Amino acid sequence: MDRCRDEILAAVSRVLDRGQYILGPEVEAFEREFAAFVGTGDAVGVGTGTAAIELALKALDVGTGDAVFTVSHTSGATIAAIELAGARPVFVDIDRSTFVMDPKSLEASIAAVDSGIHGALRPAAVIPVHLYGHPAPMPEILRIARQHSLRIVEDASQSHGARIGEIQTGTFGDAGAFSLYPTKNLGALGDGGILACRNPGLADRVRRLRQYGWRQPQCSEEPGTNSRLDELQAAILRIRLRRLEDENVRRRQLAARFNRDLTDRLACPRTADGCVHAFHLYVVRTAARDRLRHHLAESGIDAGVHYPLPVHLQPAYLNRLPMPPGGLPVTESISGQILSLPLHPHLTDEEADRIVSAVNSFPGNLLPD
Ligand SMILES: Cc1ncc(COP(=O)(O)O)c(C=O)c1O
Repeated sequence: MDRCRDEILAAVSRVLDRGQYILGPEVEAFEREFAAFVGTGDAVGVGTGTAAIELALKALDVGTGDAVFTVSHTSGATIAAIELAGARPVFVDIDRSTFVMDPKSLEASIAAVDSGIHGALRPAAVIPVHLYGHPAPMPEILRIARQHSLRIVEDASQSHGARIGEIQTGTFGDAGAFSLYPTKNLGALGDGGILACRNPGLADRVRRLRQYGWRQPQCSEEPGTNSRLDELQAAILRIRLRRLEDENVRRRQLAARFNRDLTDRLACPRTADGCVHAFHLYVVRTAARDRLRHHLAESGIDAGVHYPLPVHLQPAYLNRLPMPPGGLPVTESISGQILSLPLHPHLTDEEADRIVSAVNSFPGNLLPD
C-alpha cells in the first residue's frame, strides 16, 4: 500500500473536498472500471464479500427450501452467506490437487437432494469457490448447472484476475462475488465487496437490495438491507485496480520460482490446464505440516493454514448440514496437510530464496501420500 500512498492521499482528499461519502461518483466509477476489468455487463459495490454472495442469492430468488451446493473447504463466510439468504448449504467435496470443487461430487450431492434423503429441499444454486486463486472447473460446473437448472454464484473472493482461457473468474455464472477485504489481491483499507453481474436486471435488483429496497430514496419496493461500498474505499480501490494485473504477474512469477526450487519431497500447487492462477495463496501439501510450520517459524518465516478446520466440522455447523453420500474424504484429509507459504507481490527474489532454503532444509519426509 505504501507504494501508492501519495495517490491514495490525493484520492482521499478529493472525496473530502466533495463531501459525499456514501454511493457517489467514486463508487459508480469503480463499479464501471471493475466490470470492464472482469468483462461483465455490470458490477455492484456492496459492504463485504459475504454480503455480495447473500444479495446475489436473494436477487436470484434463492431462499427458503432451496439447496445451495458448495464446498466445505472455504471460508466460513461462504456458508454464512447462504444461510443469511435463508437457503440451505449442501456440501460438495474438492479435488486433491487444485483444492476446488469436484464436479463428480457435485453430481452426487445433487442426486442425494433429488432422492429426498435430506428432506424437502429443491436444488437451486451452486457456489463454486475459486479458492487460493485457482479457478474452479467452470465448464463442467456450467454443464451440470444447466442440466439441473441451477443458478450459479461464483465465490471469487480469492481470485481477482484469475482466468480460464480469457474468461475471468466471477463472470461464468449469473453473478460473481468478490471480497475486497484488505488482504485480498484487490483489497481496500477496510471492508468492501463487489458483485459482477451478467444481467443488468440482476444488478439493478442488487442495487435496490443493498439499500433498503429503494429505487427512489425513502420508498422501499421490497425489503432490503444496508450493505454499501463507501466512497473512500471505492476511490482507493480504483487506484489498486490499476495495479492488479502487474501484481498478479509478480505473484505468478514467485509461484513459478517456488515450484521450480522447492524440494520435490513436498506437493506444490498445481494449476489445471487452461487456467491462469491468481495465487492469492501459495499452498503446499505435506505430511509434516505442523513440524514444517514450526521449523519455518524458527527461521522467522510465518506460514499460515487456510483452513485448519473444514466448515462442516466447525461447532456452528457440525452435524447440521447435508453431506454428499460418501462424505467429504478429500476435504477432511487435506485439512491436516495444507500450509500457505508467504507470497505477496512485494516479496523480493531474495526473500523467496530464503523461504525456499528454509523449507528445503527441513529434515525428513514431507510427502503427503
Ligand atoms: C472464499 C471467501 N469467501 C467469502 C469471503 C468473505 O468476504 P468478506 O470478508 O469480505 O465478507 C472471503 C473473505 O474472507 C473468502 O476468502
